[in-house]
Parts: sequence; structure tokens; C-alpha cells
Amino acid sequence: MTVSVTSSLTSLDENTTPVVLFALTDEALNVSEYGHGAEQAVSSGLARRNHMDVTLLATEGRRVLLVGLGDAKDFTPLRLKRAAGAAARWLGDRNTTSAAFVARAVPGLDEAACVDLIVGGVVLGAYDAGLLKSKKEKTPLERLTVVSADAGAGGAATRAMIVAEAANLARDLVNAPANDLLPADLARRAAEAGRAAGLDVEVFDKAGLERIGFTGTLAVSAGSASEPSFTVMKHLPNEGQAPIVLVGKGLCFDSGGISLKPGAEMHHMKGDMAGAAAVVGALVAAARLSLPVNVIGLIPASENMPDGGATRPSDVITYANGKTVEVVNTDAEGRLVLADALIYGEREFHPRAMVDLATLTGACVVAVGGEITGLFTDHDDLANDLLAAAERSTEPVWRLPLYHPYRTKFDSGVADMTNCGDRWGGSITAALFLAEFVDTAKWAHLDIAGPAFDDTDKAFLARGGTGYGVSLLVEYVEKS
Ligand code: BES
Ligand code: MN
Ligand code: ZN
Repeated sequence: MTVSVTSSLTSLDENTTPVVLFALTDEALNVSEYGHGAEQAVSSGLARRNHMDVTLLATEGRRVLLVGLGDAKDFTPLRLKRAAGAAARWLGDRNTTSAAFVARAVPGLDEAACVDLIVGGVVLGAYDAGLLKSKKEKTPLERLTVVSADAGAGGAATRAMIVAEAANLARDLVNAPANDLLPADLARRAAEAGRAAGLDVEVFDKAGLERIGFTGTLAVSAGSASEPSFTVMKHLPNEGQAPIVLVGKGLCFDSGGISLKPGAEMHHMKGDMAGAAAVVGALVAAARLSLPVNVIGLIPASENMPDGGATRPSDVITYANGKTVEVVNTDAEGRLVLADALIYGEREFHPRAMVDLATLTGACVVAVGGEITGLFTDHDDLANDLLAAAERSTEPVWRLPLYHPYRTKFDSGVADMTNCGDRWGGSITAALFLAEFVDTAKWAHLDIAGPAFDDTDKAFLARGGTGYGVSLLVEYVEKS
């Protein structure tokens, strides 16, 4: 998609219709200035102002799409982003390839911020998830025009475009079926996208993993016919500055292994590499935006499959830092893989901060539901930076306790620890397990099991991978 900014509605070309307007229920975003027809449609109730309600009007020689924002008192930035996404999806379903969106300041938000939300929402909303359909079902929006006279509009639009395109890249990776995205494919695609954006990328294959002591990843991949991989993506504009290290769980398919998952929702586990996808997207965006911050992305990738060579419940892994883990449940595999990368990240890069993203536990989804990420850290300043980034990105994060007394839940009789606790507080014990593999680095864990994937079509977003985390990480990195 291309994006351009124009200062006035009158300069739009013939093909760029409809014009999309947003309607709040108070005076702040009155539609009357766009013509009597628009005003009349709203006042008569033909066009409803309910959030994401879409109405197409032909008024005063122009087609106009009205999209509701809902009551002014309920307004949030996320509502504007979703309304823009709903409009883009509505237009794409009708094979409209060019549209103009009017950016207007709303209470509490300046116009550049509105441009950012609109472009972000449109690029995500226009995404076509039908990657492998034999016949293309629709032509999504191709040309986006933003109507704004604000001095910051052009910059905001370009930036939002880069971030949302990176999120769509993450969605492509999440939506790719596991037979199209083996761990080696994930590494290759991360390297291709990374190098195209100007990143320095290094890929380790199985022999490489053996060399650098990735015993956890090797144990998890033992039952799979495909070899694991590990990808290091580097954006280092500042010589001598300690980097931020981002780690993403890259389970290209998680069957549970010998502790096999039940069948019902197992196909969703192609998306168990959404943390990795978010890190790839964030690194690509950091490079394209030339963010003046050193960032490193680490992507350990594997499948978790059952076969005669698979890791058994009761097997013990010895990690590169000397710690031993008794695997009592092979379905708690994400933490086994992340442990390698956390050790490596701290040892190799001495990070200023290290943040991992992982679709780690169903327990986190039970705790906070499908739209919210669980944040675990001992460091209040890092927590606050991530929570502020969540606010700016409209990607919700809630802090949960990294409650150290629960460490006893994964005591082992034979090793330093097992790989899982009892059924209570499962997202906390998973985070505490990861903490065992961080020495002194300032570290935070984001459990994105809920928001990474959504199998229901939304008005503003196609079903499947959501691209969650890319915008959050870009906001975090940019301001740190
Ligand atoms: N990938 C899953 C977690 C998951 C569940 C992600 C649902 C997205 C949606 C993870 O590897 C897993 O299987 N976790 C187990 C941990 C348990 C065995 C301690 C879980 O959540 O049940
Ligand atoms: Mn699992
Ligand atoms: Zn998993």
C-alpha cells in the first residue's frame, strides 16, 4: 500500500473515493462541514455513530463513508484505530483500491496522533489473510490518502506505515502454515527481511546450536524431522552503546511433544512463533525508521513434535550456564527454548535491558483474556517503560506478579528444577522459570499467548495472526 498526505479534500482525484469521515456524538467531530447530506444522514439516524458502524452515502457529488466512533465519553485512541481498520476492511471487501481518510484532532489527541492511528488501523485492516487461497477473493485497498494540513502529518503517516507493514510481516509469518514455515524457513525469512531493511543478520543451524550450547532448543526439537535454528538480528547505529536485546519464542509448531496436546485447537499452534514474528517485525521497523538505538533480536526456533527420538518426560537437560532441568511436561517447551536465548543474550551482548515475548502459557489467557499481555519483571523502571509503550501503541499490557515464593512449585528431586509447576499461577511459574536463566541483566517477560492470535474475524482485523507486539516494541525501543 502507498500512503500520501494532502491538505484538503478538494485536491482529491476522481478515483480517490470514498472519503471516510469519523463521527463522534458530540460537537468535536461534527460532519456538517462535509455537506448537508452527511449531516442529515447522521441526524436522521440513517448513519449511526455507534463504534465501527459503516454507512456509505452519496452526497453533493461525492461518495462519503461515515464510520462511527461511538460516544465521545467512551473515546480511546484504540477506538479510532479500529474504526479506521473497519473502514479499510469494509472497502477492501468491496474491491475499492483507493480511499481518502480525513484526520481531525479529537479531544485529547492532536492531529498527527490521529494520522498515526488512522494509518496504523488502515494498513492492518487492509491486510489480506488469504495467503494461500487458489483464487484471490478481494482486492484490498492499495492507495491511502490522508487528508490533513498538520505539519507533522507526513512524518506521522510514513512512520505509522512502516510500523504497520512490519506488523503485517509478522502476521504473514504467524499465518504461514507449519509446513511452509519450518524453523529453517523462519530463519531464512527473518534474514531476508532483515537484510533488505539494512540489518546485520546471523543464522545458526543445528550444528551451530550444538557449538553455542543451545541444549534446551536441541532437546525440544529432538522429536522433529526438521532441524532447529537460531537467528541473531542486529541494528547497531551507536558504537559502544549497550543494546536492548529482544528475544522471541519461535515454536513453528507446538504439538506438545510426548505430552501431546488435545486435538481440538492444536492447529492454532502454528502461531506459537508469534513472539519471534514480533521481534522480526520490530527489528525490521527499527532499521527502516533508523531508530538511533542499538537493538538486537534473538530468535530461537524449533518444532515440538512426538516421535521415537523425542525428549521424554523425566529427561534432564544441562544448560550452558550449568543449571539442570528435569522435563516433566514436554508441552512446557517454550521456556526450555527461551532459556538458551536468555543465557546467550546476556553473555554475548551485556544488554542495557532484555525483553522476551512469548506465547508462553494458556494460564495467562485465563488470567487476563485474549486481548491483554502479561508483563513480568522485578524492575519497576523497565515495567513502567513497557507500560508507557503499551499505552502509546494501543497494545494493552498488564503487569502480573513475578512472585518468587512460587519458585518451590518447580523444585525437582533429581535436578535443579523441573520445567513446570502445578496448575495454579501457571503464567507466574513460567516467568519464574525464565528468571532462573537471567543473571544480573535487567529483564522483563511478556506473555503474549492471548493477543498474538485471534481465530475470529473482526470488523477491523482479519482472523489469524494479529501482528501484536511490533508497535509495542518499536515504541519501547524508540523512547529508551
Ligand atoms: N504454546 C503453549 C501456550 C499457548 C496456549 C499459547 C494457548 C497460545 C494459546 C505453551 O507451549 C504450552 O503448551 N503451555 C502449557 C504449559 C503447561 C504445560 C505448564 C499450557 O499453557 O498449558
Ligand atoms: Mn507447549
Ligand atoms: Zn508452546
